[in-house]
Amino acid sequence: MSEARALPTPFLWGAATSSFQIEGASAEGGRGESIWDRYCQRPGAIADGSDGRVACDHFHRFREDLGLVRELGLGAYRFSIAWPRVVPLGTGAVNEQGLDFYERLVDGCLEHGLRPMATLYHWDLPQALQDRGGWASRDLVSAFERYADVVTRRLGDRVKDWVTINEPWCVAVLGHVHGVQAPGLKDWTTGLRVAHHVLLAHGRAVPVIHSNVPASRAGIVVILSPSMPASDSAADVAAARAFDGEFHRWYLDPLHGRGYPQDKVAEYTAAGHGAAFEAVQPGDLDTIATPTDFLGVNYYSRAIVRSSAIPEAENRPRTIPVPDPAGLTDMGWEVYPRGLFDSLVHVHREYRPKRLFVTENGAAYATGPDATGRVRDEARRVYLEGHLTACCDAVAAGVPLEGYFVWSLLDNFEWSHGYQKRFGLVHVDFATQRRTIKDSGRWLAQVLRENRLGGKAP
Ligand code: FCB
Repeated sequence: MSEARALPTPFLWGAATSSFQIEGASAEGGRGESIWDRYCQRPGAIADGSDGRVACDHFHRFREDLGLVRELGLGAYRFSIAWPRVVPLGTGAVNEQGLDFYERLVDGCLEHGLRPMATLYHWDLPQALQDRGGWASRDLVSAFERYADVVTRRLGDRVKDWVTINEPWCVAVLGHVHGVQAPGLKDWTTGLRVAHHVLLAHGRAVPVIHSNVPASRAGIVVILSPSMPASDSAADVAAARAFDGEFHRWYLDPLHGRGYPQDKVAEYTAAGHGAAFEAVQPGDLDTIATPTDFLGVNYYSRAIVRSSAIPEAENRPRTIPVPDPAGLTDMGWEVYPRGLFDSLVHVHREYRPKRLFVTENGAAYATGPDATGRVRDEARRVYLEGHLTACCDAVAAGVPLEGYFVWSLLDNFEWSHGYQKRFGLVHVDFATQRRTIKDSGRWLAQVLRENRLGGKAP
């Protein structure tokens, strides 16, 4: 282990989750159906044939789970609100029981001394809205604005940090182009229309948050994966640039007032998807560029891009297998902490967001309890240490990074992978719902207690 190193202060250390992945209780408390409930029923959609009906049963066990966040020594908790729990049909009647649940959750955070960060949309759209065209329809923008209003009016006296949308690329492309996430569509023109409406919904929600929540901080969360050509060949270099356009610039450019990148507009138009741009109406780009208080960055790995190799159905950028398989997580993603540093520095220099949070970072490893019940997940500890170091380096390089959230608090429903990919600092036995803090979690608690990296592992 390297030399001890002080952590930045002040700094927000947290863990992140999302509603569909942990809550369960999908038919309780007046919750409406979400597109993920529907998608899980599609044969073959979820690797282990599972669904979110029970998940981590967090709806009933949230007090225990907040206690775990505290035990991990963290000071913040990022969670998401299930739109169908609050407005079961997406528009119309508000379900007070749903709001009550989130109120209890937020009060629980405050009782434990945790600063809550709430995400309004982490992919669980009310199915009723999908039935009316989903994000491909412009009507979703006002539906989201109204939902944001309902939620922030109720929780805004206690929740100050608000994320509008989690990972617009995943919503648009994984859900509507590759069809590997709900609603499972496969059409680029639709995907581009969705991307526009999602960004627009974000831009319309920001002033709602600001006006309903005194001292609020509002932002959006993007996923970053620095794209590098597999070789110096002109074709690979062009492919890496094209990937960067699809994955990063398509969102970051309009969010920061630059409009959609012209190279990509030309490319999508040439590919026959130009009809999508009819969705862009006068004033939309100004709305999308509404100033925010932070940019959230989710980072897992880098993308090494070959000219021929971004297969249609891939749910992540293709990375070239690294020689040492120990360097890959169970998702097949390369462990590459340097990419987090590079991403943060790049985004800071290029777009100058007011402040940054790493809103997700973590690794899937299946390590379970040993005979003594201990979860010795050294690989996750190493992953986290590398990425925490990258955060310290970024702060030292002048990046206004003010917080870091581990993905995830609990092993949970990892979307189309079902329960097979375990990202938690806390192991969950899904048969008994028993929670066990993993060694990586104990290590993190020690790091936070000592406020330095590089101490002896507990
Ligand atoms: C991110 C998602 C999160 C989780 C991690 C592994 O893209 O935001 O819900 O699935 O990946």
